[in-house]
Amino acid sequence: MEYRIALNFEDGVTRFIQCRDNETVLDAAYRQRINLPMDCSDGVCGTCKGQCERGEFDLGDEYLEEALSDEEAARGQVLTCQMVPASDCVVRIAADSTRCKTGIGEYAGTLAGVETLSDDSLELSIDLDEGAELGFLPGQYVNIDIPGENEYRAYSFSSAPGETRATFLIRNVPDGRMSGYLRERAAPGDRITLRGPLGSFYLRPVSRPILMLAGGTGLAPMLAMLAQLQAQGCEQPVHLIYGVNQDDHLVKCEALDAFTEALPDFAYTTVVVDETSDHPRKGYVTHHLAAEMLNDGDVDVYLCGPPPMVDAVLTHFESLGQQPAGFYYEKFTPKRVEEAA
Ligand SMILES: Cc1cc2nc3c(=O)[nH]c(=O)nc-3n(C[C@H](O)[C@H](O)[C@H](O)COP(=O)(O)OP(=O)(O)OC[C@H]3O[C@@H](n4cnc5c(N)ncnc54)[C@H](O)[C@@H]3O)c2cc1C
Ligand code: FES
Repeated sequence: MEYRIALNFEDGVTRFIQCRDNETVLDAAYRQRINLPMDCSDGVCGTCKGQCERGEFDLGDEYLEEALSDEEAARGQVLTCQMVPASDCVVRIAADSTRCKTGIGEYAGTLAGVETLSDDSLELSIDLDEGAELGFLPGQYVNIDIPGENEYRAYSFSSAPGETRATFLIRNVPDGRMSGYLRERAAPGDRITLRGPLGSFYLRPVSRPILMLAGGTGLAPMLAMLAQLQAQGCEQPVHLIYGVNQDDHLVKCEALDAFTEALPDFAYTTVVVDETSDHPRKGYVTHHLAAEMLNDGDVDVYLCGPPPMVDAVLTHFESLGQQPAGFYYEKFTPKRVEEAA
């Protein structure tokens, strides 16, 4: 039996490795040429300490308390030199990928199509090359090169991991470089390069109700997470509030309707900013956050969208004086704004 282990590095890079029966994560990583931090390899020094965020494993009892205390182990910390997985796992590594002699993965695919979903958003589909095996955690993103330009942009997967066709929801920015390529030049068959997966915005193990807050194309990672929840099963309530500027910017509602059928306790609420809209709920996402959705703080919140929307929600939560038990967010910061900062 082999297990798939996602190693999340401090610089946001994720690499997947295969771990064989009775193999430690450290040994599996070295076998696959990823030099995780280590010193003794024997459970003595604590250099290889990481955090297991998901999955079952055995740590044995051969390590020293000085290397990993009982309290640390109870919090999910692990010694990768002792950790033998008993399922697929996600492990956070306390080092940059470059320090571990690895780095961002590069994958190739062929553009399958660009669908105009609204005047504000496009759906890009890419058929990954055979054997590309681009693993990712639902919620993560990749950097996609703009063909013919020495530029790339970051996009969150809207498709689920493991599919040979990867999809992305992309805002159609009038003077945007990627938007311009997709609108005007993109043709089926174009070769596309993707680098990743990246980011710490991904679905965590589900142990309490989930509240998803999406602005515009910030819906993309939520679709990937919902697909994962459907695949793995989910008994907890999941509520999505999905806000857009105008009525016709609401997209993928059929996919959301399908999730209401497929998941036992999923509901979604749409919100439109435009004051002239006939939509039953107008304003911002924060205006429609009902107290019961926060479940007295016992909730995992996933928030994604353009920076002003994400900042507004963060400020709103601060003003409530109540932080959710789990709070994860991704800002779709434009690259040129990022570089100027
Ligand atoms: C982690 C991450 C994930 C993302 N995922 C998605 C996603 O799933 N879907 C999605 O639609 N987007 C996503 N984005 C945003 C995406 O990467 C691009 O920024 C966006 O698609 C615009 O790219 P573009 O090439 O079309 O526009 P660009 O050529 O980058 O221009 C974008 C806009 O920003 C303006 N701009 C440029 N520089 C500045 C500046 N200094 N100050 C103010 N404005 C400026 C431009 O005028 C233009 O209107 C994500 C971003 C990040 C960081
Ligand atoms: S490498 Fe020393 S405890 Fe793991």
